[in-house]
Amino acid sequence: MPFTILPLTADHLDQVVAIHLARFPEDFITSLGRGWLRRVFYPAYLELAGGFGFVAVGENTVRGYIVGSEDSRSFYAQMLRWRTFGLAWSFLWAALRRPRMIKRALAVRRTVRAEPEPPAPADLSYVALKPGSERRGIGAALVSALADYLRARGHEGCWVKGWADNPQTDGFYQAAGFRPVQDYYSDGRHWRLYVLDLVRP
Ligand SMILES: CC(C)(COP(=O)(O)OP(=O)(O)OC[C@H]1O[C@@H](n2cnc3c(N)ncnc32)[C@H](O)[C@@H]1OP(=O)(O)O)[C@@H](O)C(=O)NCCC(=O)NCCS
Repeated sequence: MPFTILPLTADHLDQVVAIHLARFPEDFITSLGRGWLRRVFYPAYLELAGGFGFVAVGENTVRGYIVGSEDSRSFYAQMLRWRTFGLAWSFLWAALRRPRMIKRALAVRRTVRAEPEPPAPADLSYVALKPGSERRGIGAALVSALADYLRARGHEGCWVKGWADNPQTDGFYQAAGFRPVQDYYSDGRHWRLYVLDLVRP
């Protein structure tokens, strides 16, 4: 199936969120609800300084997407300040329905605090395909678009983190040129930090 890589726009957000929900059902940010993903998390990559994204479109359908930021620390700090009320409301609503959310939020906070210093300012936040579109080079093409974008803006590297014990993401990131730089453990998970060298790929 042929596909084209395009910059992410507001018109793609419904499909991007549908892919997120299908691919990351267990993520903490997913538990904040579809509304939060649709109105805050993904629009932030369009609206806030340093955010960007690309989609792979084939047969008029979004087959996959990638989002990242040019300075992850400042980007996530902006996101927390941007729609604080929306975030607080989504969290409270989720916690009322599922009180274990509070324990989860504390675990996420511990994990973020245990994170090593990022090896570069820019990050790849999420890359995912619509189920059924795998192993056709779409993920690799999305990473190439991200790399070209960051290189053109003078970046020398891009980092991403993943679960080291997930052979799918580990295999994909390493095939795309990401080099593991550090393993760490937090809340019973084995994490791996990777960096993509944009100067000597
Ligand atoms: C990970 C993901 C984005 C890969 O996308 P993809 O389009 O299937 O990847 P590509 O076809 O471009 O594969 C490029 C290379 O990556 C490696 N790779 C891809 N999927 C792999 C897998 N499941 N296991 C091991 N290696 C894999 C291979 O080396 C592959 O080359 P090959 O097909 O010639 O062997 C996709 O499987 C996905 O959406 N997974 C769920 C979401 C996710 O885990 N995202 C990453 C965390 S944010």
